[in-house]
Amino acid sequence: MTLSAPRPAVADPARAFGHSSDLSPAAGEFAAAVRAGLMHAPQKELPSKYLYDEVGSALFEVITVLPEYGVTRAEERLLTRYAPEIVEALPSDVKVAELGSGSGRKTRRILEALCRKRPTSYCPIEISRTALQLCRRELADIERISIVGYERDYLAGLSEVSRQRKRGEQLLVLFLGSTIGNFARLAATRFLRDIRAMLRPGDTLLLGTDLVKPVGTLIAAYDDAIGATAAFNLNLLSRINRELDADFDLRDFEHVARFNADVRSIEMHLRARRDVRAGVRAAGLTVEIGAGETIWTESSHKYHADEIPAIAADAGFECARQWVEKEWGFAESLLAVR
Ligand code: AVJ
Repeated sequence: MTLSAPRPAVADPARAFGHSSDLSPAAGEFAAAVRAGLMHAPQKELPSKYLYDEVGSALFEVITVLPEYGVTRAEERLLTRYAPEIVEALPSDVKVAELGSGSGRKTRRILEALCRKRPTSYCPIEISRTALQLCRRELADIERISIVGYERDYLAGLSEVSRQRKRGEQLLVLFLGSTIGNFARLAATRFLRDIRAMLRPGDTLLLGTDLVKPVGTLIAAYDDAIGATAAFNLNLLSRINRELDADFDLRDFEHVARFNADVRSIEMHLRARRDVRAGVRAAGLTVEIGAGETIWTESSHKYHADEIPAIAADAGFECARQWVEKEWGFAESLLAVR
């Protein structure tokens, strides 16, 4: 595939933050990220965390039940089958912090197994308010659970949960669903180190990773037949239109999923079907995108199960146990603070 030479974004610094000042801090942050990403050369990009507004979170829930997207079902099979064994491997008095709870459906297995042993507090940490509400609704019926949600970035939320724990409580951090895959490889290790820095001996991290599989299977999973993933991706532009007073015409863009073999990641892009010029008023930006040029919106890195112990060691953990689902290819690794 040939991409035409990317055109620079046209910025108007005088207008840049005049509009953001009357937005909430979160909206100002979104505006700044969109501005930086669309001005990024040579590859325009948008951070994948912004895919999850109310519409995006609902579309992601659809993706998790698509026949082509085996990730969520594979992890559910693992957690259904091994939750008792996982809980057996943990210290007896744990408080649970989950990074990116989503709907909370998979987490139920672990929480039920824990709550059978003793009352357990569960702290989902989510930037998406919608996801927090979904997860509370999904899990509130578990006996002896207490749920306190944190609408925060992962690390800010985790540091708060870690500081607020009771004497003798050890933290179990859940980072499921292969969300770690959204980080570039080095950034993933750095992120695990940041988590490690907030933990103490006896604390653990349960890490879900999607495994390398044939490229055709991966492409189908990220470019499904009914177009749910395409809608999920395009919704990011529609969110920018809604929240940042932009005028993207979604028909000017198409969803692209491609495998980057160098780093073993599936990338999602939005490709311009024609030359596009759009204003993002709340970011003080007019952006020009040439026909064929793309905006890179997400990477999903795929791992080999046996790379996890090395990555863990690099970040100050020891991989104590690992459970692998072989039908789809997914691993759950229990990392213990060294
Ligand atoms: C929620 C980040 C794990 O990368 O597979 C699904 C998001 N993107 N289809 C993933 C996603 C496109 C998903 N994670």
